[in-house]
Amino acid sequence: MKNILITGSGGQIGSELTLELRSRLGGSHVVASDKREITEGALFETGPVEVADVTNAKEIAGLVKKYNIDTIYHLAAVLSAVGEAKPQLAWDIGVNGLYNILEVAREQKCAVFFPSSIGAFGPSTPLDNTPQDTIQRPVSMYGVTKVSGEMLCDYYAQRFDVDARGVRFPGIISNGTLPGGGTTDYAVEIFYAAVKTKHFVCPLEAGTFLDMMYMPDAIKAAINVMEADPKKLKHRNAFNVTSMSFDPEILYAEIRKHIPDFKMEYQPDPVKMRIANSWPNKMDDSCAREEWGWNPEFDLDKMTRDMIQVIRKKFEMGLI
Ligand code: SER
Repeated sequence: MKNILITGSGGQIGSELTLELRSRLGGSHVVASDKREITEGALFETGPVEVADVTNAKEIAGLVKKYNIDTIYHLAAVLSAVGEAKPQLAWDIGVNGLYNILEVAREQKCAVFFPSSIGAFGPSTPLDNTPQDTIQRPVSMYGVTKVSGEMLCDYYAQRFDVDARGVRFPGIISNGTLPGGGTTDYAVEIFYAAVKTKHFVCPLEAGTFLDMMYMPDAIKAAINVMEADPKKLKHRNAFNVTSMSFDPEILYAEIRKHIPDFKMEYQPDPVKMRIANSWPNKMDDSCAREEWGWNPEFDLDKMTRDMIQVIRKKFEMGLI
């Protein structure tokens, strides 16, 4: 039986991944950990919760031993815009934190899932149909930590036989826990604004195309790459995965199909624009499709319908 530890369980992806894995494996087999204590809500009620700081290797090693963990989904991270404000913290959590996870995985024989990102690319990368294997010279500290992380995972796999796998996530759109401090967060915030106030100030310029994905597909990607037949994997780590690519204008027009009096204006944020301009417009994810059957379910139309339906319901119930 699998026993899983998730770091960053309180975050945007971690919160939903924890609940999905618990529904598949049983609550007691999936340990939710976060830097901040989890004291209530679904994560608290459905299985074990622990406080864990990924920069403290002893804490992580203790949890792996205590729960007889064999797989770690390492989701603790600092996102791109916050990483520019706090580069030292981004390095510490992004690189030293991953190093600790990989060392514990080597010592206690765990598999590791590591989420890399579109942030691992930079302005010298081909930004259209970005290949799986290409130039990676990111200009953000977030990107530097993601490239370093991809290389650390490859190194631990080759040198120590740690089964470290992962994907390069695009911007993740979800209606549960909000993301914090990412360049792609606008694509989540716009839905809340459209439902609540019918007005949104967009921090990215029109024409800024980025890859995006709806949360159910992101959860599916993380679980499927870990369950893939290792004999079929040529890359193992840092697979490009994407579901859709749009700019703010396209998303705005799509939301207005459902909320016609919604208005958006632009106030570009220079830090986010510099980052967004250095990231792919659209990645080529054919290696993930060929090697482990990646096949997203949600396109722009289906994602938008679902987001508006769920957020409207929450608004009507007074939850947001
Ligand atoms: N969503 C992330 C960010 O914007 C990118 O992986 O920082």
